[in-house]
Amino acid sequence: MDQVKSILKDYYNIDITDVLSQQGGWASLAYKVSNKNKSYFLKVYEKSRSSTPKLTALIDQYVPIMVWLKNSSDLQGKIPVPLITSSGEYKCEDEYGVYLLYDFIEGETIGDQDLTGNQVDQLSKILTELHSYGDDIPIRTDAIKEDFEVPFLQMLRQILQKGRNDFPSDVWELIHSYIPQLNKLIYTVEEYSQNLKNPILKMALCHTDLHNWNLMQSGNQLLLIDWEGLKLAPVEADLMFLVDKPYFDEFLSIYRKTHPNFSINRDAMTFYQGKRRLEDIWEFIEQLLFDEQNDEERLVTMNYLREELRFV
Ligand SMILES: Nc1ncnc2c1ncn2[C@@H]1O[C@H](COP(=O)(O)OP(=O)(O)O)[C@@H](O)[C@H]1O
Ligand SMILES: [Mg+2]
Repeated sequence: MDQVKSILKDYYNIDITDVLSQQGGWASLAYKVSNKNKSYFLKVYEKSRSSTPKLTALIDQYVPIMVWLKNSSDLQGKIPVPLITSSGEYKCEDEYGVYLLYDFIEGETIGDQDLTGNQVDQLSKILTELHSYGDDIPIRTDAIKEDFEVPFLQMLRQILQKGRNDFPSDVWELIHSYIPQLNKLIYTVEEYSQNLKNPILKMALCHTDLHNWNLMQSGNQLLLIDWEGLKLAPVEADLMFLVDKPYFDEFLSIYRKTHPNFSINRDAMTFYQGKRRLEDIWEFIEQLLFDEQNDEERLVTMNYLREELRFV
């Protein structure tokens, strides 16, 4: 806790009186920190986690785009943007972690709940607006441009080539019967990855991690949070999260008012769906094999992995 206090003091010049540990996502830790006047949300990417380098590498590239969106688009008030440190940075770090500080959002995470009609309407409008910006905005987007590379596939394939003795026995028991299907899916994703590199696809700004744990309701406003995945990509990178939802038609009817000629690119959709499935599986395997986890954390990861494998 003292460490959190000194981060806030040293980097943001904020004197904190309260620190409350929050339930973060699975990629980060979080604290609600308060001084006399207001509360903040401190997001901590621990350097000990194998997912951290990937999640934090592009902060300095994507946050300026968010700042621009916040100031220049209709997304103002609908997306949280990190506060800057005393020296003007969007993040700070020490030997233990990488830190992002936000205003605390007083509200409720949607999480396991279904979206109401009004929330579907608001989410549709947020995405419609986001997707109307591309590489023509006055901030550089090259660092976040989709290149259809999927670097983790090679590591995943190598791991899957190993045998029983190279895995903890519980992990082996869980995965071994899925290995042929996983290899098939890896092949498919690689094939689509190659094929998508050639045609000139229309690209737009995409969030790429749309799920209800990244949606919060605050008063009348629905907010889309957790923008680490911001990319310039075919919009299927976002729509893959919506196509199977009962409200997809409703979403499309709103979306098409602004994007009248829109139709789904099946290849891009197949690529993103397969990639996402493999990415989740890879991250869980990575945690089980390489991260330091206690028994309870390990059990949670095992359960996530079991759940994910059922769909391969
Ligand atoms: N600014 C905020 N204020 C209050 N709660 C927040 C804020 N940002 C995120 N949260 C809560 O913390 C959870 C994890 O945050 P998120 O940014 O999604 O982290 P992760 O990258 O680990 O998924 C969210 O599901 C939400 O409940
Ligand atoms: Mg999240």
